[in-house]
Order: sequence, then structure tokens, then C-alpha cells
Amino acid sequence: MSKIKIVNSKTGYNLAADYYANKEKYWDSFEKDRVLSMLGDLKDKKVLDVGAGTGRLALRIAHAGAQVTALDVSGEMLKNLKSKVHKVIKSIKLPVETASGEAENLPFADESFDVVIATFLVVHLKDLRRFFDETYRVLNNGGLFLVTNINQRKAPAIKTKDGLIEIESYYHRPEAVVELLEELAFSVEKNEFVKEGENWVNQIILSSK
Ligand SMILES: C[S@@+](CC[C@H](N)C(=O)[O-])C[C@H]1O[C@@H](n2cnc3c(N)ncnc32)[C@H](O)[C@@H]1O
Repeated sequence: MSKIKIVNSKTGYNLAADYYANKEKYWDSFEKDRVLSMLGDLKDKKVLDVGAGTGRLALRIAHAGAQVTALDVSGEMLKNLKSKVHKVIKSIKLPVETASGEAENLPFADESFDVVIATFLVVHLKDLRRFFDETYRVLNNGGLFLVTNINQRKAPAIKTKDGLIEIESYYHRPEAVVELLEELAFSVEKNEFVKEGENWVNQIILSSK
């Protein structure tokens, strides 16, 4: 049996970008179309997608009329996202900008976004406090923060050109995520669970500043 290498997000997603992009429909199934509807009218809103990956949601949000900034720590994931934006851009100009950076140290001025989203990101963050603090800082007053928390206790093994890898992951108790948001002065508006049978597979939290 080949040995599984445990790697950080940057290394892991640089190796796994194509694997991730090919499974976007599968990742959608953990949300059941709830994310966009929870965000309401996005026309002319400034939206930051943190850990935007291959742009699974960033592109849809731009199609809904928002100006999107897609931030990620992985250059290969952003490359994949950009290639999709360029394909679309031939017919309409899709307003998606990309930024390299870390969720815990967002390279943006205070109060510069109306909406921040982070889908399937917090599973890769050990301590959510710095990311949530940073999100609060870059949000306008009254702005929305949507975060999803996948129910994953064991990271999957992913086959890459460098062999089998596991990307560093952390399980976060749903109650603890809500408590931390409230402690950091967010108002939690919705806390929904996507279920498969009796089990929850994903938590979707909408809060406001
Ligand atoms: C599971 S993918 C989710 C992609 C996209 N949000 C989606 O819902 O399809 C997680 C993404 O978060 C990025 N990421 C992980 N840790 C990060 C960090 N500390 N700062 C910024 N991006 C990070 C990874 O590179 C990867 O692209």
C-alpha cells in the first residue's frame, strides 16, 4: 500500500486543483442550492469569496450581478478559476478579480465588502478566530457573512501526480462555530443543516455585522 502524505492547503490544493474542479457537481450536493438563495439580491454588491478555489460559487455570484473578489492560498486553484472567467468573458464581461492570500490575514482595507462567503474553507483552518475577526474587519456595517462547515472527521485521500495525499483538516462542532461568531459580535441570522437521512452533512450559517 502506498503511503499517504499529509500536506498543508497550499501544497495540497496546488496538487489537487484538477481533481477538485472535476467534482464540482458533487460539492454542490452538500449545499442543495441554498447558498445563493440565502444571500438574497446580489446585484451590484461587493462580494469576497474566501478560499474561492476553482470558482464554483464565485462565478455564479458574479452572474447574479455582484462584483466578486476571489481569494485563495492556492495558485493552481485560482488558475483554474481564471480560465473559466476567461471562457465566459468572450460573451459577457464577468466581474471576478482574484487575489492570493490567507484567510487569517486578508489583504483588504477595513469595511470594503458587502458580503463575505467561505464555503468548505473552515475545515482547513485550525483556529477560526483570526479568520472570523478578519472577516468582521473587512465587512461593511450591516454586511453579510455566509460560512459553511462540512461534517468531515477524516480527510479523504486524494490521488495526485505526487502520490496519495491528505490535506490538513479540522472538525469544528457546529455549536462552537455559532458561539464563536456571536462572541465576535456577529448576529447569527440563520443556522441550517443539509441532511442525508438522519445525518447532517453540512452546516450553513448566515450572520451579519
Ligand atoms: C474545499 S476547497 C473550497 C473551494 C470553494 N470555496 C468551494 O466551495 O468550492 C477549499 C479552498 O480553500 C483554500 N484555502 C485553504 N486554506 C486557506 C487559507 N488559510 N486561506 C485562503 N485559502 C485557503 C484552498 O486552497 C481551497 O481552494
